[in-house]
Amino acid sequence: MFAVRASFGGLFQENRRLLSEDVKNLWALAQLQHFLISNLGDPFIESNYGVHSRQFEVGVLDWFACLWEVEKSDYWGYITNCGTEGNLHGIVVGREVFPDGILYASRESHYYVFKAARMYRMECVKVATLVSREIDSADFKDKLLAKKDKPAIINSDFMPKIRLAIAWKNRQYERFAILFKIDQSDLMCKMRFYIHCDGALFGLMMPFVKRALKVSFKKPIGSVSQGDLSFPNQMCREHHSFLILSTSNYLSLYDHGSRNGHAPIFLWYTHNRKGYKGFQKEVQKCLRNAHYLKGRLREAGISAMLNELSSTVVFERPSEEEFVRRWQLACEGNIAHVVVMPSVSIEKLDGFVNELIEKRSTWYRDGTVQPPCLAVDIGAENCCCALHK
Ligand SMILES: Cc1ncc(COP(=O)(O)O)c(C=O)c1O
Repeated sequence: MFAVRASFGGLFQENRRLLSEDVKNLWALAQLQHFLISNLGDPFIESNYGVHSRQFEVGVLDWFACLWEVEKSDYWGYITNCGTEGNLHGIVVGREVFPDGILYASRESHYYVFKAARMYRMECVKVATLVSREIDSADFKDKLLAKKDKPAIINSDFMPKIRLAIAWKNRQYERFAILFKIDQSDLMCKMRFYIHCDGALFGLMMPFVKRALKVSFKKPIGSVSQGDLSFPNQMCREHHSFLILSTSNYLSLYDHGSRNGHAPIFLWYTHNRKGYKGFQKEVQKCLRNAHYLKGRLREAGISAMLNELSSTVVFERPSEEEFVRRWQLACEGNIAHVVVMPSVSIEKLDGFVNELIEKRSTWYRDGTVQPPCLAVDIGAENCCCALHK
């Protein structure tokens, strides 16, 4: 047992070394590890099980309620175990509101959307995207109008370029149209809609990004599932997510089983330790460092893209699997991406880029293999292949 523990400890230590800073700030909570803390049932209703952290769970939800402009008395939510769970819940609430609704999602959405459609037996329409990965408004409009008799349940990703209400209008259809940049008059026939927002990682960054569109329940959104990046030791994965919903009669339809009671305490502690100002500073650092990373890659002649106001750098997939594994890169086809999180320092980025440059010089040394063309994936202007550089 000791050997197994030691070997796993060593492995985690090594894998963490490349990606993250230390977690000393959470050590203050170490004594709580002695307890099996479990939150079961509705966080707003007391239960007989005593070792719970519901008050922290509600505290975290209130923190976000304040950030996203919904009255404490007007929302319901709970801390889920992952983003997928929150999104599945949001979509099913949409289906409860509109049992005959059609689910619309970007074709680039995470696979939970298509899983949800199968699980809930919903018709699902995939909407085309632009090179920037935004929803293609023209295609969206065509698809909505093709099924104009049925309500729309829309899964909307909080991409940095999301069309979250750009201006403020009073009537629902106008707000909806603005949200997705669709001609308002065409939408008069499509008044019934429910929007679930997948905040993923960026939902928590957006409120702190100057010039970013504002996330607010004053806009016509029904629910948000949010990944939380409060944990200092993560680079690109959220481990604890939560769901927050606006008022609806359908919210408490489902009973909630046991869930991790430690997560709310960690989140509550981190939110309070950092405060809104702390988050703002970290988000600004992430954006600066993402620009730095993109700049260094491009200087080295490596195809790379960074959307405005984003901290996700998309670049050429390294051709050696060992390198991909070592740096734990998320890859798809010819592209890889790095989400620059608070734990990613300039030194770490330099170490990564220097190693990539060195390795690339061996992968492409004799010219028999060329770096791939990424014009289709990230646009010709971001591609440094032989044709586009
Ligand atoms: C946009 C988006 N939504 C949802 C998810 C699912 O989150 P989780 O892995 O926490 O279930 C991810 C995961 O990468 C994601 O990128």
